[in-house]
Amino acid sequence: MQLQEILYSQGFGPRRVCLGLVEHGLVSVAGSRVDDPFAEFDPDELAFTVEGKPWTYHAKAYVILHKPAGYETSQKPSAWPSIYTLLPAPLRQRPNKGSTPGVQAIGRLDQDTTGLLVLSDDGVFIHRMSSPKHHVPKEYQVETADPVDERQVRRLLEGVVLVDDPKPVRAAACVQTGSHSLALTLTEGKYHQVKRMLAAVGNRVTGLHRSRIGRLELPRELRQGEWRWLSADELGMAADRGK
Ligand code: URA
Repeated sequence: MQLQEILYSQGFGPRRVCLGLVEHGLVSVAGSRVDDPFAEFDPDELAFTVEGKPWTYHAKAYVILHKPAGYETSQKPSAWPSIYTLLPAPLRQRPNKGSTPGVQAIGRLDQDTTGLLVLSDDGVFIHRMSSPKHHVPKEYQVETADPVDERQVRRLLEGVVLVDDPKPVRAAACVQTGSHSLALTLTEGKYHQVKRMLAAVGNRVTGLHRSRIGRLELPRELRQGEWRWLSADELGMAADRGK
């Protein structure tokens, strides 16, 4: 694959910009500057630098982000900065035949929710992970305004009816973790679902953190606002329906 095409596919800008980056000597492969935009390389896991910043070729992007509070999971946020501003420009610009450029978040977290977000530019993967039919479990650590009691836990497990939604929803798992906290696992993702479920049992969410998707736990070393590529193993774990 030509170097200029590799840069284009990874989101380093329009083709003429990628051509210019190489011609101006701003791209190095294996430590050596390459100034021929048409030089051919095997792209698979090719490591290169653009303006001194390292990048590794990925045919499709699958990344994990530790979302901090105070960011909206939206390309067009209304009041808070977008989570996409936490990602480097190439991840936001990757060309995507016929659809929005860049990686897309798989499922939304509210502005005040922290934790695990997976993003990708693989439409098939996004569709499968977002489909309610796929039932990927997502675990939330919930802090509440009022004490949690057994009755609330039982009702969350048995099913509660949300305002404006006649079909009851229930937690796949719910464990009290403290006087004012619980771990709740959901296999669907309705709007504000955790907050609405806690409201339905007479409590109120004061803190919400997503700690797991499928079998993929938020890595301890990933600090709030940080992102990294997902390995193939981790990708399989994120799509795992096992509870
Ligand atoms: N449920 C909510 O209420 N908010 C989130 O951010 C995620 C799940």
